[in-house]
Amino acid sequence: MLEEVGKDVVLRDGQPLTLLDQVNLTVRAGEFVAVVGRSGSGKSTLLNLIGLLDTPTRGRILYEDKDISGCGDTELSQLRGQHLGFVFQQFNLLARRTAVANVAAPLLFTSSCDARERRRRAVEQLRRVGLEHRLDAVPSTMSGGEQQRVAIARALIGNPKIVLADEPTGSLDEDTGTQVMRLLIDEVRSAGATLLLVTHDRELALQADRTVHLDKGRVLE
Ligand SMILES: Nc1ncnc2c1ncn2[C@@H]1O[C@H](COP(=O)(O)OP(=O)(O)OP(=O)(O)O)[C@@H](O)[C@H]1O
Ligand SMILES: [Mg+2]
Repeated sequence: MLEEVGKDVVLRDGQPLTLLDQVNLTVRAGEFVAVVGRSGSGKSTLLNLIGLLDTPTRGRILYEDKDISGCGDTELSQLRGQHLGFVFQQFNLLARRTAVANVAAPLLFTSSCDARERRRRAVEQLRRVGLEHRLDAVPSTMSGGEQQRVAIARALIGNPKIVLADEPTGSLDEDTGTQVMRLLIDEVRSAGATLLLVTHDRELALQADRTVHLDKGRVLE
């Protein structure tokens, strides 16, 4: 839940700029929320705040009932690892690592399972996204759609409560994008997780339980 959240930055010439202003937002567990708005309206800023990748200038962010404003970096990374999964437009995979290693990577920080168990879980997750034949491929040898499937598997391996996806099909052609989006929505749903999805696609937004419209850093009702 976000309470009166604001985010300001100071530009290089010293001018302050408000990226988000008085945002109130409650997302229920398991809900699928689409975040829409023009370029520059603050969608990525909002997702980064919810994803604990950025901190608000004003207001409070609560997870369940926990106010995260008092948390230090260690606690924030723990919360990120235990509760959140991310899917980005640019996939953000580790270039030199195989699909299995990319998917297993979050478990290095968040679970106590050994290498064998990490691999087993990564393979299972890759099978779920239809990539059992690409386990040892590195990102440069995979198509965009395949890379995004790896990213989806990586986002879900830690059983997150919330999946944050920022224009996840923005780098894919239309057909591949549709397939990847279907997969993302289905996988998040079967995991019972909450999905916050930034998209420019109106039809896609219609599939969500709810749409949040941003305009110049404010939520339109
Ligand atoms: N650190 C920063 N310093 C200065 N300006 C910033 C910073 N971060 C974001 N902005 C500006 O704040 C506005 C909101 O950015 P944000 O990335 O949240 O928009 P967006 O809605 O995700 O846009 P897009 O659809 O293009 O991805 C933009 O005008 C952006 O240029
Ligand atoms: Mg953005």
